[in-house]
Amino acid sequence: MKKMEKTTRFARNLLAVAAGLTVAGLAQAGEVEVLHWWTSGGEAKAASALKATLQAKGHSWKDFAVAGGGGDSAMTVLKSRVVSGNAPAAAQIKGPSLQEWAAEGVLANIDDVAKAEKWDSVLPPVVANVMKYKGNYIAAPVNVHRVNWLWANPEVFKKAGAKVPTTWDEFFVSAEALKKAGIIPVAHGGQPWQDFTTFESVALGVGGTDFYKKALVQLDQATLKSATMDKVLETFRKVKGYTDKNAPGRDWNLATAMVIKGEAGMQLMGDWAKGEFIAAGKVPGKDFTCAAAPGTAKAFTFNVDSFAMFKLKNEANVKAQKDLAAAIMSTDFQEVFNLNKGSIPVRLNMDLAKFDDCAKLSSKDFVDTAKSASLVPSVAHGMAVPSAAAGAIQDAVSQFWNSDKMSVADAKAKIASAAMTK
Ligand code: BGC
Repeated sequence: MKKMEKTTRFARNLLAVAAGLTVAGLAQAGEVEVLHWWTSGGEAKAASALKATLQAKGHSWKDFAVAGGGGDSAMTVLKSRVVSGNAPAAAQIKGPSLQEWAAEGVLANIDDVAKAEKWDSVLPPVVANVMKYKGNYIAAPVNVHRVNWLWANPEVFKKAGAKVPTTWDEFFVSAEALKKAGIIPVAHGGQPWQDFTTFESVALGVGGTDFYKKALVQLDQATLKSATMDKVLETFRKVKGYTDKNAPGRDWNLATAMVIKGEAGMQLMGDWAKGEFIAAGKVPGKDFTCAAAPGTAKAFTFNVDSFAMFKLKNEANVKAQKDLAAAIMSTDFQEVFNLNKGSIPVRLNMDLAKFDDCAKLSSKDFVDTAKSASLVPSVAHGMAVPSAAAGAIQDAVSQFWNSDKMSVADAKAKIASAAMTK
């Protein structure tokens, strides 16, 4: 009898402990479904750093990867999920689109996390403002990518007797030399967002910062129809002449692989391309070089990746979502993620000791160009204008790139009219 009583008490205690554990477990461990489009070698490594960071907090990660550089496909899939009332916890959404999503009333206010982690004092204001809707944080930024880069393979440049160009005139001299040496001068992936990425670097290099801002950020009609735009479009078309016939449809990372293998000499692409070189074991300054796109050394087109947080009902998942937001901005995560992604930390005053010279240059130029007003948002990567206008301009630019018969005057008119899309 005594023994039974004891056992019963023990069993009761055990049950109570187990129940407590379950409650505690439920309150803490949640699941976070994260939509992103990081599927290339370097991108996947960076994404796995995010997953590991979340799992280290005891939560589980549900991967929602939608392949397709630039994220056009990911955004289409996200829209249908949200419309059907099944939003993920977090989604890679950037720039003005964050405001568009917040205006739909589907994003969560994460001010409590931002306050506790002092985001206002560790983020550049230009970034913090984009992460807020009506003064409240609705997204967490992960990095700063620079878009106006030119990646080159020094070995093939040497073979061709060419030098890495700093102006557009030099670019075509080098391209000609590479071509003569039997190397594809420019590795390009013919997808609208890649055409547009090249276009904005040409616009910045040929037209300069003021032109870029007026034409592509303010969408000023007179500037879009100006003679400078003719020069931009002519230069852009000339670049195409140095790409190969298999470019249409090619993914950006396959274009980077052509430079890595020495099949092509150079690529105009944002520094997520560096993530590919690094993932392939290549050393910056030795196996590949990074230089500002021709004529753009004193400017910086920025592209900040961020995760918007959607409103959730399940309490444990809300907790997991907040832990994710806090983790994203931690110094440890910012370091490991950006070392793999090719970008630089978005958090100010981070120690860059582990970063390479490309990242150090990017960081210096980010600060310098902010002071000289030549830090500009990337229009091709959704940082500058509402998504409807950006999409319409992208289509017009791609049409011109793909139809050699379209005149510069026609392209100019098409782009100017696309810029008015609301
Ligand atoms: C994103 C990068 C990504 C790239 C290629 C850009 O728009 O900001 O994070 O690596 O697209 O997919």
